[in-house]
Amino acid sequence: MMGLDLQPGDEVITPSFTYIATTAVIALLKLTPVFVEVDAQTFCIDPAAIRDAVTPKTKAIVPVHLYGQSAPMEEIMNIAREFSLYVIEDNAQAIGCDYIFNNGTKKKTGTVGTIGTTSFYPSKNLGAYGDGGALYTNDDQLAGKLKMIANHGQSKRYYHDLVGCNSRLDSIQAAILNEKLKHLDEYIEARRKAAGFYDKAFANCAKIKTPSRASYSNHVFHQYTLVLQSVNRSGLNEHLASKQIPSMIYYPVPGHKQKMFDSFNLPEVKLTTTDWLTERVISLPIHTELDEEQLAYITSSVLEYINQ
Ligand SMILES: Cc1ncc(COP(=O)(O)O)c(C=O)c1O
Repeated sequence: MMGLDLQPGDEVITPSFTYIATTAVIALLKLTPVFVEVDAQTFCIDPAAIRDAVTPKTKAIVPVHLYGQSAPMEEIMNIAREFSLYVIEDNAQAIGCDYIFNNGTKKKTGTVGTIGTTSFYPSKNLGAYGDGGALYTNDDQLAGKLKMIANHGQSKRYYHDLVGCNSRLDSIQAAILNEKLKHLDEYIEARRKAAGFYDKAFANCAKIKTPSRASYSNHVFHQYTLVLQSVNRSGLNEHLASKQIPSMIYYPVPGHKQKMFDSFNLPEVKLTTTDWLTERVISLPIHTELDEEQLAYITSSVLEYINQ
């Protein structure tokens, strides 16, 4: 957002149903976050809601490829073109995911918009051994500027042409990521296999809605997130915890209800789908090392609680 010269007061349209990092950067730069609704099936930003939220102050859209599936990028890019907006894809959870255009061509998520961002936090699909992240863009000039901003605004040592910060990727993390990158597709395959096991196990349970797959995306399963219907979610969470199975709520408080925005005097928004999902989602363990015995233990423990 610094690289795109966004200025205080500029509006950035983004989902509320995401990790706070998506919106915290907007707040840090004193831009105005405009929280919009997500689609109840895919958990990703709803293009119709974006269109309704555009004002003369809107400068950018930040779609989030939540849980490992792409937001509807073609529709988002059409809106961006119509209103001359930047698109910054939050690809923290979906590295390796394919967006499939109407004409059948594919692009990796994060490479469709103006800039893609990702996180190498250890639990991510491509995780480092500590913190890290990257930005990607097809615009060479912008890439040069972003590199400068991430390195104290310099391209030549000690000559600081721009206001920047230290956001360099640590060399040790980079070395690890260079090796792990070669295996990203295998990691994704392992996650998909676990997701397939869960899908099958819960297929006949009316109280559990398994993750839906959008026609325009594949899924890299950073998370495997269920939507519960008429189930006591905290009861299930406690039941699983008693059996040493971690389950998580991503996220218990949506962005538009976070206290950090109290001082922003944002207009009140009503995001009924976001609030509805916030009360019903629960994520089961998913990673590359789950074996069938563990998956069977997890699924039977979930069903044991739900069918009791
Ligand atoms: C959707 C989303 N955006 C942004 C981030 C931020 O990543 P980092 O903490 O590496 O900056 C995360 C990380 O958890 C995330 O899940």
